[in-house]
Amino acid sequence: MAVRINSFEQYKEDYKLSVENPEAFWAGVADTFTWKKKWDKVLEWNFTEPKVEWFKGAQLNITENCLDRHLATKGDAIAYVWESNDVNEANRTLTYKQLHEEVCKFANVLKSNGVKKGDRVCMYMPMVPELAIACLAAARIGAIHSVVFAGFSAQALCDRISDAKVEVVITSDGNFRGNKDIPVKAIVDEAIKNLDFVRKSIVFKRTGGPVIMKEGRDIWWSDEMATASPVCEATPVDAEDPLFILYTSGSTGQPKGVVHTTAGYMVSTYYTFLNAFQYNEGELYFCTADIGWITGHSYMMYGPLLAGASSVMFEGVPTYPDAGRFWQIVEKLKVNIFYTAPTAIRALEAFGLEFVNKYDLSSLRALGSVGEPINVEAWNWYNDYIGKGNCPIVDTYWQTETGAFMITPIAGITPTKPAYATLPLPGVQLAIMDAEGKEILGNDVEGNLCVKFPWPSMIRTTYGDHERCRQTYFSAYPGYYFTGDGCKRDEDGYYRITGRVDDVINVSGHRMGTAEVENAINEHKNVIESAIVGYPHDIKGQGIYAYVICDHVPENADVLRKEILDIVTKIIGPIAKPDKIQIVPGLPKTRSGKIMRRILRKVAEGDVSSLGDTSTLLDPSVVDAIVEGALVPIKQ
Ligand code: WTA
Repeated sequence: MAVRINSFEQYKEDYKLSVENPEAFWAGVADTFTWKKKWDKVLEWNFTEPKVEWFKGAQLNITENCLDRHLATKGDAIAYVWESNDVNEANRTLTYKQLHEEVCKFANVLKSNGVKKGDRVCMYMPMVPELAIACLAAARIGAIHSVVFAGFSAQALCDRISDAKVEVVITSDGNFRGNKDIPVKAIVDEAIKNLDFVRKSIVFKRTGGPVIMKEGRDIWWSDEMATASPVCEATPVDAEDPLFILYTSGSTGQPKGVVHTTAGYMVSTYYTFLNAFQYNEGELYFCTADIGWITGHSYMMYGPLLAGASSVMFEGVPTYPDAGRFWQIVEKLKVNIFYTAPTAIRALEAFGLEFVNKYDLSSLRALGSVGEPINVEAWNWYNDYIGKGNCPIVDTYWQTETGAFMITPIAGITPTKPAYATLPLPGVQLAIMDAEGKEILGNDVEGNLCVKFPWPSMIRTTYGDHERCRQTYFSAYPGYYFTGDGCKRDEDGYYRITGRVDDVINVSGHRMGTAEVENAINEHKNVIESAIVGYPHDIKGQGIYAYVICDHVPENADVLRKEILDIVTKIIGPIAKPDKIQIVPGLPKTRSGKIMRRILRKVAEGDVSSLGDTSTLLDPSVVDAIVEGALVPIKQ
């Protein structure tokens, strides 16, 4: 079986095979990898516990597949070219040979600091090659990495380190982002100050800013690497041994640690990267996602490295020193494949074409989009002004939990439609469910999106709490994995994702649980209760609208708002700051105490003419008060 899809006909054939005989299909892909021991059984599964095992009995090490197996043929090819936040700082390049050596050295550093197979290692770092090196080094010795996006607050980091019982944290002195210099190490110090089980913190020097090194706990990356051996045998792990934990927000409570295992994740990320982007040997691929998110894991590290691809890693932000930065990088490095989020596209569109037209973008062959529904206007702008009408747009729909692309065009092969993620990749069996929980068959339909058969890179559990995994994903529709998204399937069988149908909001492509933000707001001493909803936002996709009930009328509402923003920043991070805060006398609740978010959403959208039936509310008059308050422009 050819792993690479070369035509639309082949896509259809491969899709058919993958449904008729999933085991043969995925074994065909898996056969192309290096295994220490082949599997006894391709798949065992049930969606009730749930328990899903791919390539059971196999042993492998994913870093041998990312690195060692490329050395003979492309040891001198570029794995990463790193672009600094500072436009004047020189690029750093790492060939596959160099990356292999750095990974082996750091794997030895981890070992000499007592990290063993199965231990969790947390990375809280800027976008520097050392972040990828640290993750791969952990994988090399069978340890489990847990990367926390370096924009999260000390408290959010502390929660994640505690949940995974991490003993070793990898960090840096600081982080250059735009014109900011963020004191990363100090945030880690604060996060772990009461966590006695954190034995070591290994600090990479990036900014040269002042740091306090705690005797016996904090050590410098460069000191450790200076004496580390470049030889490190890869530790064999079982196919179903965890590769990493990545925390993500859900509709309830604290973020949960999504657990991905080794073999299935490897097979899916490789297959989807190669096919969706149609990567060709020698091309340069630029994914703008941070490794702190799933896109960075699957499509900045594992997918491209498994395919032996060359990637750009960018430290900075799209608007620094100006809104032309992405395009300047595309021109300078001659990028062929560019992959970003709709929120970035919309933000850059708003700055105007002068920042685009200055640069030669003719090297581009394919464009990608991820993280949220892309609106037709942004899709057209991306297509016309970045792709110049010549580059297929792959709108990749997937989730932290799916590990790899689920619905996406195959570049240049699947006919695209603006704002459609188009068709499922081979191996992905979708189902659209109606309000009664029955699968809706046929085309030109709309409902909630589920998956009815396992795929290799699917979530296996939520760390330390399997029941939560079952309840969140496998209980709404027994026998199905529920994505939490709504979707349409049009008359051609094409899928368009319409957004979350649960209490998760998607702000600039970042997932936020309503409960998580509410809990943070409720920490304010004058807040009795709060409710947040998403509302359409021109740049961010969704903005956060917060309704708060105060204990007493604040002397100055603006001061209260500022304090709430500070609290949210402290507890979660700046990405969770509400865009609007309205003080309300009460919240629309049913007699059983459930907040009617539908009404709050309508008010936030400014659509107060069709609030629906409010007579079942405990106190219908609060709705009038909320509407009245919303009509007064809210100052931020
Ligand atoms: C949304 C990011 C529409 C969706 C990879 C999903 C999308 C959530 C798309 C997962 C897309 C992601 N079109 N919506 N192409 N890609 N989403 O876990 O709501 O950060 O459930 O993974 O983002 O977000 P996550």
